[in-house]
Amino acid sequence: MPRANSSGRFIDFAAVATAAAIAVISVADAEDTQGAAMKEAQEIFSTRCSVCHGASGKGDGPGSAALNPKPRNFTDAAWQKSVSDEYIEKIIQFGGMAVGKSATMPGNPDLTAKPDVVKGLRATVRGLAQKN
Ligand code: HEC
Repeated sequence: MPRANSSGRFIDFAAVATAAAIAVISVADAEDTQGAAMKEAQEIFSTRCSVCHGASGKGDGPGSAALNPKPRNFTDAAWQKSVSDEYIEKIIQFGGMAVGKSATMPGNPDLTAKPDVVKGLRATVRGLAQKN
């Protein structure tokens, strides 16, 4: 029965096309979410973190002069290698004291509800490593 065959084929094609369209839409959504979180993370870095850590992450922000210990220099490749992503995400959310560091490194408890932004900040810190 050629009719049934061709309509069967049409339905298959429609199902595949619909599935493909849904896949494309959900990938685009995921990219939008990550893009928005990364943008928010970069804004937070320049408004909160750079005050102490400096715009280029060298630990030389305007607020750093009065601090002891000094804010971490993120360009330090040896330090970058010595810490895990989980550690960086923890200190960003809960502050220096949560990882046995100085309490002058403040927590950002408002970000625990925004894991993508925390990841974005961790990626920003990682991105400041000196390439050598
Ligand atoms: C008030 C100043 C200040 C602000 C604001 C600040 N930090 Fe820090 N940060 C510090 C200091 C001081 C240290 C070093 C603590 C130590 O060595 O005991 C530090 C250390 C760190 C470390 C490294 C910890 C280590 O192992 O040495 C990371 C990562 C970090 N900060 C990330 C951030 C991020 C991301 C932000 C913004 C969301 C931020 N900090 C905001 C002062 C600050």
